[in-house]
Amino acid sequence: MTGIFYGSTTGTTEAVAQDIARQLGVPASDIHNVANAAPETVAHYDLLILGSSTWGCGELQDDWYGFLDALKKQNLAGKRIALFGCGDSGSYPDTFCDAVGLIFEALQQTGCTFIGSCEPDGYESIHSLIRNEERFLGLVVDESDPGKTDARIAAWCEQLKNG
Ligand SMILES: Cc1cc2nc3c(=O)[nH]c(=O)nc-3n(C[C@H](O)[C@H](O)[C@H](O)COP(=O)(O)O)c2cc1C
Repeated sequence: MTGIFYGSTTGTTEAVAQDIARQLGVPASDIHNVANAAPETVAHYDLLILGSSTWGCGELQDDWYGFLDALKKQNLAGKRIALFGCGDSGSYPDTFCDAVGLIFEALQQTGCTFIGSCEPDGYESIHSLIRNEERFLGLVVDESDPGKTDARIAAWCEQLKNG
């Protein structure tokens, strides 16, 4: 079972979460806003799709702070985790989608397996926490390049469907 957990301040990440859910056939009851989700909910799922926008200068979306602390304390061993983020590479090239990297770092020692990393094709040269060697840690939605968003989401969902 798949659970989608997102944090969103102005609705962008929420809309992407809903789009991902539609494409993967995840029902609305399995889409959770981390502002009011119980961390224990993750126990129901074997695949967790976690999404955050980036705020400040490379910071988590506000609602993620408390949720991520609690999430770290759950039993995530054996779970698959896919990450996505929304950001703006034009205004914040050095911290583009850093929240995704922060969530990755926070959960690295939990025994989960990360899936859904991407080739950084079609992005400007990015050197932020989203980059893990030659790949991006997850789906990256860029406000500076909105024309590519739908295709990027669709390709990522296909990738998740295929394993
Ligand atoms: C004050 C401010 C700071 C931001 N800082 C970053 C940043 O460091 N990195 C980034 O990639 N995007 C940054 N953004 C862009 C937001 O992440 C982007 O607008 C995102 O789509 C918001 O998603 P949400 O509505 O789901 O919270 C910032 C935007 C604002 C207004």
